[in-house]
Amino acid sequence: MARKFFVGGNWKCNGTVEQVKKIVTVLNEAEVPPEEVVDVVVSPPFVFLSLVKSLLRSDFQVAAQNCWARKGGAFTGEVSAEMLVNLGIPWVILGHSERRLLLGETNEFVGDKVAYALSQGLKVIACVGETLEQRESGSTMDIVAAQTKAIAGWISDWNNVVLAYEPVWAIGTGKVATPTQAQEVHTALRKLLHDNVSPEVAASTRIIYGGSVNGANCKELAAQPDVDGFLVGGASLKPEFVDIIKSAT
Ligand code: G3H
Repeated sequence: MARKFFVGGNWKCNGTVEQVKKIVTVLNEAEVPPEEVVDVVVSPPFVFLSLVKSLLRSDFQVAAQNCWARKGGAFTGEVSAEMLVNLGIPWVILGHSERRLLLGETNEFVGDKVAYALSQGLKVIACVGETLEQRESGSTMDIVAAQTKAIAGWISDWNNVVLAYEPVWAIGTGKVATPTQAQEVHTALRKLLHDNVSPEVAASTRIIYGGSVNGANCKELAAQPDVDGFLVGGASLKPEFVDIIKSAT
């Protein structure tokens, strides 16, 4: 089964109203492959979600960068899945390594968030990835397998999930994984889905790569058979994001 290419732009904690409008203008004017060929999903900070949604071309979608693990209520500073649904935001990024490492989100907590977000009708970009220390100690697959299994048990419809492999050592460092390194982990993740979920889910689930993807390195990565797209950080704030979208074809 052919998997539709997926390009996510994670703007992280960046931007002003003026900068956001400029980025959206570049995207709106870009000539890119049609939505039958590539899903483009941009993820601004919470405060800009409505603005971006109102300005962005209709063939691109919007994602939040996080949401709370259960129904909203007395959780100061959090944003619930219900609120995102209410705003018409279809996607949410969960389990990003910056939240795992800086904010102490555990595999179990990320699993809870994935379960609740899906239960409310959101689609999830679920992130996994090892640190440099874990890679150098040879435990990459143990780490990403544990992270993936902690979410897999909560997923009944994998059409609503994109799995993002983002090695921590490649994020924001300019040190991109080689196409071989990315393909190796993506293949292993697909085998994990095959063995633990089903052959059908393994064949159809998009596994995207994130970590220092840019306009220059995206083509070679995109050519890997198990790399189904990208989750882009820094370069998603720049016009070269359009080149990354174009690597879908
Ligand atoms: O979510 C995106 C990743 O953290 C990659 O960020 O492209 O700036 O390395 P980066």
